[in-house]
Amino acid sequence: MKIFIVGLGLIGASYAEGLTRSGHTVYAYNRSADVIQMAEDEGIIQKKSQIDQMVFADLIILALYPKHNIEFIEKYKHLLKPGQLITDVSGTKVWMMNELERILPLGVYYTSTHPMAGKEISGYKAKDYRIFKQANYIIIKGQRSGSNDETILRRIANDLHFGKITVVDAQTHDELIAFTSQLTHVLAVSLMHADTFKETKEATGDSFRDLTRIAKINEVMWSELFLENKQALIDKINHFKDELDHVKHLIESSDKEALQTYLKIAKEKRKTFDVH
Ligand SMILES: NC(=O)c1ccc[n+]([C@@H]2O[C@H](COP(=O)([O-])OP(=O)(O)OC[C@H]3O[C@@H](n4cnc5c(N)ncnc54)[C@H](OP(=O)(O)O)[C@@H]3O)[C@@H](O)[C@H]2O)c1
Repeated sequence: MKIFIVGLGLIGASYAEGLTRSGHTVYAYNRSADVIQMAEDEGIIQKKSQIDQMVFADLIILALYPKHNIEFIEKYKHLLKPGQLITDVSGTKVWMMNELERILPLGVYYTSTHPMAGKEISGYKAKDYRIFKQANYIIIKGQRSGSNDETILRRIANDLHFGKITVVDAQTHDELIAFTSQLTHVLAVSLMHADTFKETKEATGDSFRDLTRIAKINEVMWSELFLENKQALIDKINHFKDELDHVKHLIESSDKEALQTYLKIAKEKRKTFDVH
């Protein structure tokens, strides 16, 4: 398949590498030209990648931050043609999908996707196509989805070696992601801020390090994603505060039996996540 990737950051470049290795013909656009040059030299995209190649693509993958995806389509929509499929890999959907559905030319199909894999570091040099292996992949259908989109995107997911594929709508995606991805990043950075000891670094074991790994955050990207999904994230933070209050109450009241039951239920639930 002819694929055009917009943005060769961590995710876009990892896609380019993985899809080229799977035999696809991949072209790309990136704001900084030196990145395109590196990608061509490393053979993860075709030589002479230029924006005009987009018109020949069967599939266009937007791999910029949500608001930059919208700006890109606004600027280059004249290079799209009916029958092409557009997808994106962004971490939030409702707002961005509404905007893209509004501005995309007629006849162009659009179905969103979210690769549930990444790293704490960003940019082209952080690329690694192996991060997608067995990772979850979410397909988000919208008003501009075509009848064939899911089949094509499942093929792409398989070529990148993703594991489980789930299909949801944009609202469900944003609520799920507010919990599984955004709340966890909020907790990791809050834990770092809650640290008041000067000896913490010397006193940490695996638990603190595991829980705060994602505090090494890309602050530009995540602040955008948090604000684009504000209400869903606030709801999850409030729900989590209630849960913290509950466990605090169990400890305050020295209710050992209830505390053990509470811990055991969490343990049993977490164990089920390891079963594929
Ligand atoms: N990182 C993750 O863990 C992860 C996981 C799943 C999905 N995602 C999604 O993937 C998308 C890309 O994230 P990423 O982690 O790959 O980001 P990244 O490594 O920081 O790359 C950002 C990309 O956007 C370009 N860019 C930055 N500012 C721009 C601007 N003002 N105008 C045009 N282009 C600009 C960069 O170009 P230059 O090379 O010129 O700087 C680069 O190509 C996001 O929508 C994110 O939600 C990320």
